[in-house]
Amino acid sequence: MSVPTFEQARARVEELRREIRHHDYRYYVLDSPEINDAEYDELMRELRRLEELYPQLVTPDSPTQRVAGVPSEAFGTVVHSSPMLSLDNAFSPEDLLDFDRRVRSLLGGEQPEYVAELKIDGLSVALHYELGRFVRGATRGDGERGEDVTANLRAVRSIPLVLHPPGGMVAELEVRGEVYMPVEAFRRFNREREEKGEPLFANPRNAAAGSVRQLDPRITAGRPLDTFIYEIRRWAPDPAPGTQWEALEMLGRLGFKVNPHRRHCRDINEVIDYCRHWAEHRHDVGYEMDGAVIKVNSFDQQRRLGATTHHPRWATAYKFPAEQATSRVRDIIIQVGRTGVLTPTALLDPVRLAGATVSRATLHNEDIIREKDVRIGDTVIVQRAGDVIPEVVAVVREKRTGGEQEFHMPDRCPVCGAEVVRLPGEVAVRCTGVACPAQLKEQLIHFASRDAMNIEGLGPAIITQLMDAGLVEDAADLYYLKYEDVVKLERMADKSARNLLEAIAATRDNPLHRLMYGLGIRYVGEKVSRVLADHFGSMDALAAAGQEELTAIPEIGPKIAASVVAFFRQEQTHRLLEKLRRAGIKMEERRAVPARESPLAGKTVVFTGTLESVGRKEAEELVAFLGGRSSGSVSRQTDYVVVGANPGSKYDRARELGVRILTEEEFRRLVGLV
Ligand code: IVH
Repeated sequence: MSVPTFEQARARVEELRREIRHHDYRYYVLDSPEINDAEYDELMRELRRLEELYPQLVTPDSPTQRVAGVPSEAFGTVVHSSPMLSLDNAFSPEDLLDFDRRVRSLLGGEQPEYVAELKIDGLSVALHYELGRFVRGATRGDGERGEDVTANLRAVRSIPLVLHPPGGMVAELEVRGEVYMPVEAFRRFNREREEKGEPLFANPRNAAAGSVRQLDPRITAGRPLDTFIYEIRRWAPDPAPGTQWEALEMLGRLGFKVNPHRRHCRDINEVIDYCRHWAEHRHDVGYEMDGAVIKVNSFDQQRRLGATTHHPRWATAYKFPAEQATSRVRDIIIQVGRTGVLTPTALLDPVRLAGATVSRATLHNEDIIREKDVRIGDTVIVQRAGDVIPEVVAVVREKRTGGEQEFHMPDRCPVCGAEVVRLPGEVAVRCTGVACPAQLKEQLIHFASRDAMNIEGLGPAIITQLMDAGLVEDAADLYYLKYEDVVKLERMADKSARNLLEAIAATRDNPLHRLMYGLGIRYVGEKVSRVLADHFGSMDALAAAGQEELTAIPEIGPKIAASVVAFFRQEQTHRLLEKLRRAGIKMEERRAVPARESPLAGKTVVFTGTLESVGRKEAEELVAFLGGRSSGSVSRQTDYVVVGANPGSKYDRARELGVRILTEEEFRRLVGLV
């Protein structure tokens, strides 16, 4: 074949992309392909060849660019256009009737229609489209801010990069939905990991979340992820659909995958039917659901109902009853946790439960064992609600043979042999060993975990090996590990050893709150550690704080304060911190610019025209961060007008009023970005 001219190539590229998009849609969204894999591959090959021949033809929305870009260091933050709220829960038909009564009374007696949908157990995401093209995707995060996972979501094939025709007319679209891993794909995926000796995911939801939160989009691309989109959050310009039912239909027309098992219900009784039906049939579809979501259909009614700070008043989640199974207690063993708590755990005959095989269940503590009278050899009912660890609910007494054995908590730690104590007022029994390997191991797992220091690749298996080899005795030792030591560990090749050391080293400059959380101070969770890091700004300042100073902080109560003070009184703590400091771990927080010193403190800024380096919204956030205010119009009170490309009338107005005008470059210099 002769080499096509640029014009010929351009025409053919467009045709190929249209075809490939169509087949992607048939395959990934509708689940009904029209061509076979070989034919599809041939189209892709031809497109790739033409794009290689004329690289100018490559556009970000080309099907060849689903997996593009380089692995990033960390995810950027996306501030959600409106908070991604969670839902209030209903656990019974009565709760649903209550919900309906509340809704009707708030609507002044109007009878609402409802839409009932499956509550997919995955990871919620927000997807942004501009002029019909996918531009940004984010995780829910804490509801206010999520992580920018655009590159990874591009690799999820049921997410359209280009919307179907009605979408091209939509200037701005934000939709929300769920990314999940189908159950069968999850099993296969975990089996493959097992063969490779990689850690397994506990359930499809964790697997989906872990896959979306990969720094390398190529990894996400290899994971069997799918989506259901269930909400139109922003739609400009109007008119947007007026009801949830229409919104779901519209989402389907735009090319999104929308769950087919939805129902338009005229009243709450139809909703209850729907919930009953799906509680029984939840395993009939190939993905996990943990309930149903009930929404008031009319958007006008939704607006009138509004939301509390946590959840909308126009929706509720009906949670399916926890699933239960029967098994036999083979033995009761003790697990020692991070803070030394001894948790009795039942070893069970393996049993299928909620789509997984369960062979252990927690018994929580001795009081509960006595209360439920669980004995070794007993037949018991176990349940797993959501992804929590299975627990023993009750003993089936009729099955007792008399040969069952009572269990008693040991008075020494089964791991280190130290004495155990039960503190007054506590149900938990604790190991008093200062160097208990079981505690240390859990502490290290916590230290490396995602919300703490987030050391990628350092999971329980490697931590155990490091400890067994005598290479680490505390968290600080991780930073002194040498290549020669690490490469000797089982299943550690040259590359993985280097990766691990790099991952560890990369956490030296972590924000302070991660380190504070990673230390595992009792009652200091993720949120509290942020508060402390923010307030004190350095580890030393926190260590020096007394009970009073701590309780003066609104979020800190006496219990947390006492725990913090006690923690920093320990000799061991000081040794650990000293060692971490010597290892070069950052112990201070970079603060937001104090209002006084900020170049924009108290200043009013107006933006006009298109900025090149940042979006308008980010620029406005930056102004707010620096203590300034951004405004939409120019007046004598305006301090700066920042002018981007193709400025509007604000530019003229600024000149008229003699307001200080800055180019984008000057603005960046002013705020210290360059
Ligand atoms: S609507 C204002 N619809 O459940 C909240 N959520 O507890 C809008 N979820 O974070 C959520 N399937 O991750 C909605 N069909 C569905 C859903 C669904 C799953 C998840 C979602 C959300 C959580 C709410």
